Amino acid sequence: MNKEELKRKAAARALDEVRNGMKLGIGTGSTAKHFIELLGEKVRAGLDVVGVPTSEVTRADAERCGIRLTTLDAIDRLDLTVDGADEVDTRLDLIKGGGGALLREKIVAAASDRMIVIADESKWVDCLGKFPLPVEVIPFGLAATRRAIERACAQVGATGRLQLRDGKDGHAFVTDGGHWIIDAHLGRIPDAPRLASLLSDIPGVVEHGLFIGFASTVVLAGTEGIRTVERA
Ligand code: A5P
Repeated sequence: MNKEELKRKAAARALDEVRNGMKLGIGTGSTAKHFIELLGEKVRAGLDVVGVPTSEVTRADAERCGIRLTTLDAIDRLDLTVDGADEVDTRLDLIKGGGGALLREKIVAAASDRMIVIADESKWVDCLGKFPLPVEVIPFGLAATRRAIERACAQVGATGRLQLRDGKDGHAFVTDGGHWIIDAHLGRIPDAPRLASLLSDIPGVVEHGLFIGFASTVVLAGTEGIRTVERA
């Protein structure tokens, strides 16, 4: 089974948790896209749900699949968010934002009663950090913010190259919120919860890709089958 088939299997398992009448957070990325397509099939067969997309790309995909959408201004809470991840550790903490949607993803996850993370087994790690950590920043004062990020990383014993993400046009990648992203190539983050709070304290940082304590369930699809890990 190739990676896309594994992602689709994980997405299908998450879909089993979706009930009629639910308000859903809809994630971003290639794994979430499988979920959107499968959810669309169910909607066309009569399932009644409403979703909040975590990016403009997801909005377009969901609309194409016939999924009814709303906003967090129009509704109070979400029952469930289904989203992918770049890394998941054994505490169910995550690195997200490889696709650049971390800010809306975190706002939506925080407004949800439950978050199911869907992934192929290659995303499961003992220690977060091999995947470069995305940090969404304000363009103003970029160099000062970068230095502050460096200091925060050093405080938890994580060092590495901080790189401004490029877009397809060769200029800085711009998020849906109009910000830029610094990818922190740390290799290993010894204390992810502490780094998360240090990064949140930096004025030029809008949000970072460490999702600490958000995931309730992780669905991992591997060649041996599907493994579901619940938060203890
Ligand atoms: C989007 O910004 C990310 O947080 C994605 O959820 C994450 O990068 C996983 O993407 P894939 O499912 O494409 O690996």
